[in-house]
Amino acid sequence: MQVAVVGATGLVGGVMLKVLEERNFPVERLIPVASARSAGKTIEYAGRKAVVVTLEDAIALKPDIALFSAGGETSLKWAKKFTESGTVVIDNSSAWRMDPDIPLVVPEVNGHVIKRGHRLIANPNCSTIQMVLVLDPLHREYGIKRVIVSTYQSVTGTGIKAVRQLEDERMGISGEKAYNYVIDKNCIPQCDVFTPNGYTKEEMKLVNETRKILSDDSVAVSATAVRVPVAGGHSESVNIEFRMDFDIQTVIDLLGKTPGIIVHDNPQANQYPMPAMSEGRDEVFVGRIRRDYSTENALNMWIVADNLRKGAATNTVQIAEYMLQEGLI
Ligand code: A2P
Repeated sequence: MQVAVVGATGLVGGVMLKVLEERNFPVERLIPVASARSAGKTIEYAGRKAVVVTLEDAIALKPDIALFSAGGETSLKWAKKFTESGTVVIDNSSAWRMDPDIPLVVPEVNGHVIKRGHRLIANPNCSTIQMVLVLDPLHREYGIKRVIVSTYQSVTGTGIKAVRQLEDERMGISGEKAYNYVIDKNCIPQCDVFTPNGYTKEEMKLVNETRKILSDDSVAVSATAVRVPVAGGHSESVNIEFRMDFDIQTVIDLLGKTPGIIVHDNPQANQYPMPAMSEGRDEVFVGRIRRDYSTENALNMWIVADNLRKGAATNTVQIAEYMLQEGLI
């Protein structure tokens, strides 16, 4: 396969390169793509050097697959130009996610929505992916009525500039800012921009993308997304109200046997998932699983994952693997 990675010099793009290599994705030629600023630079892939090219140059090379992670504007402008020239695009931006004609996919949950002829596939938001992987088996079993989620999101989700802001602040250097406020020793209850309803875009992604992936608009979701001075992964405190009652041990067993999930939950030994332990891992970790005694059929849990991996790069590569395996590419 000729595989283009658009945004190869960015945080997610860099992890995409790593994940493609680690998973032995059948890459015959790797085409790293970035802005004109980076064209001509070299990056390493599988022990070989590859020269970064512009989008114009990449499209002329007619790659079989292009993994996009260079922001919504780049995807809006370029994704369809690639698909029109025969490339399958898997897009990590929010540009196409809610388009009813475009599949929004977490392969373990709804890979089957990708049909022959689909050439543009959207990769969900990082916070949504880790939550929906856990919600899906529970929804099938007990029927979810309502989810209340509060996120504790890593600065890596904002990109390289945000990681530098945190590092600069820790070293007392004044540099470029990705956030309106200081992030070190602080929590910022704003991820992405505000929408007219008072929620941020990130919060509305959790609402709308979850329903689309579960293909059930009856699931009510209420979200608060918070940026925290953490770099390893996103954490989420999730409260779920079911239509039916459940047995807590059955919930734990069900999650434990769901591919992609690791239950890490032992209060007696003070064990629970944390972003520092999720860093570099592809699985979604779940702990603090406990009944919510304040209302009927409700559950609390804590979900952690490396947002650059399962939340972005790994899920994108898994979509490509799924399409290959199913003969859709
Ligand atoms: P570049 O490094 O040349 O700016 P991050 O989110 O970590 O900041 O990374 C963003 C990625 O998207 C980078 O690889 C960046 O390339 C790329 N990018 C940003 N704008 C464009 C654009 N207009 N065309 C192509 N790539 C872009």
